[in-house]
Amino acid sequence: MSFLDSFFKKEEKSVLGVDIGSSSLKVVQLRKEKGQAVLETYGELALGPYGGSEVGQATNLSPEQITETLKDLLREAKVTTKNCGVSIPFARSLLTLVTLPYRKDPVEQKTVINLEARKYIPVPVNEVQLDWFIVPEAEPAQFAEAESENTVAAKKDTVDVLLVAVHNDELSSLQKIVAGAGLTASFYEIEIFSTIRAVIEEQMKTAMVIDVGAASTKTYIIEHGVVALSHSISVGSQDITRAISVSGNVSIAQAEAMKKEEGMSGAGALGSPELVFSRIFSEARRVLMQYETAHKKSVTSIVLTGGGGITKELNTYAKSIFSIDVRVADPFVKTGAPAFMRPVLEEIGPEFAVAVGLALRKLEEV
Ligand SMILES: Nc1ncnc2c1ncn2[C@@H]1O[C@H](COP(=O)(O)OP(=O)(O)OP(=O)(O)O)[C@@H](O)[C@H]1O
Ligand SMILES: [Mg+2]
Repeated sequence: MSFLDSFFKKEEKSVLGVDIGSSSLKVVQLRKEKGQAVLETYGELALGPYGGSEVGQATNLSPEQITETLKDLLREAKVTTKNCGVSIPFARSLLTLVTLPYRKDPVEQKTVINLEARKYIPVPVNEVQLDWFIVPEAEPAQFAEAESENTVAAKKDTVDVLLVAVHNDELSSLQKIVAGAGLTASFYEIEIFSTIRAVIEEQMKTAMVIDVGAASTKTYIIEHGVVALSHSISVGSQDITRAISVSGNVSIAQAEAMKKEEGMSGAGALGSPELVFSRIFSEARRVLMQYETAHKKSVTSIVLTGGGGITKELNTYAKSIFSIDVRVADPFVKTGAPAFMRPVLEEIGPEFAVAVGLALRKLEEV
């Protein structure tokens, strides 16, 4: 085998995850080596400056503007592959958990779900891409204590199904961006699923993921690896920057730098991050407790992710609010990288969780 052969062979095995967030684009390029995911490159580019606002603030750019930003990012990050998977924003998708009749035969079950799904989607079915997942039942042992035998028996008549719909318009605008940037996508995935792949460990039976983005915070409850509940909170990390800017009378750019520097200890006259996070966490906690009550299960761990999840000392604060195991997402831990890069990857990880999750799925195709 010549040098060129091996070079090209390597190239083919590289894949890319592309996360189109509201405040920035992120890419992660992985390669499979001896069955392992190896990190080749990654990069992030803020959208704000492309749309007349600042780094760290959410934007509402046209597909054309996003395409231009993505091209710049691919160049800056020295991305060498066109083969990618792309995220669909949670805000542009519809997730509904429904209880449907149970059928023992999987084919029959599929028919029932496809028929029933129509009733729950508020737009004509031909205008959306529809997908669904069956939520696994809890193990009998878990049920035994919580519920009587009657309820367990009753359970078998029905099945919980997560319906997932994405509007065709959203997909075609993403396809436009991807094609415009010269990439080829084999799948588009709602960001929740990418995040789960990147940050949830098997031993976490019932976990809540809190993705603190720029404009909003997304919370998901994960049951045996499947989304059992999802909820969006309209407060995000940009609100901290704005608060610091207003109360400290500093520019957005200065406030953004102060937020990153000081983390949870930034307080006093400068607008307290704790104020914003207490709003986010109290809503998340309400969602969590409602879930626990309704399903008679306890959520045993919390994973903080998204750029806001990087906030210094946030996990200490989160632990004081939730009183359960809280960890900050470390998605790059699932990828091989040089040891000297570990500290930086660990720090920036939460921002890249979606992109890592996409690349990991794409790698399964290789
Ligand atoms: N070190 C840090 N400390 C505190 N906040 C940070 C840090 N790094 C990034 N952020 C904040 O995280 C936010 C961006 O997070 P992220 O990249 O996850 O958002 P996004 O994916 O663009 O948004 P969304 O998920 O809402 O579409 C910004 O508001 C940014 O200021
Ligand atoms: Mg995001």
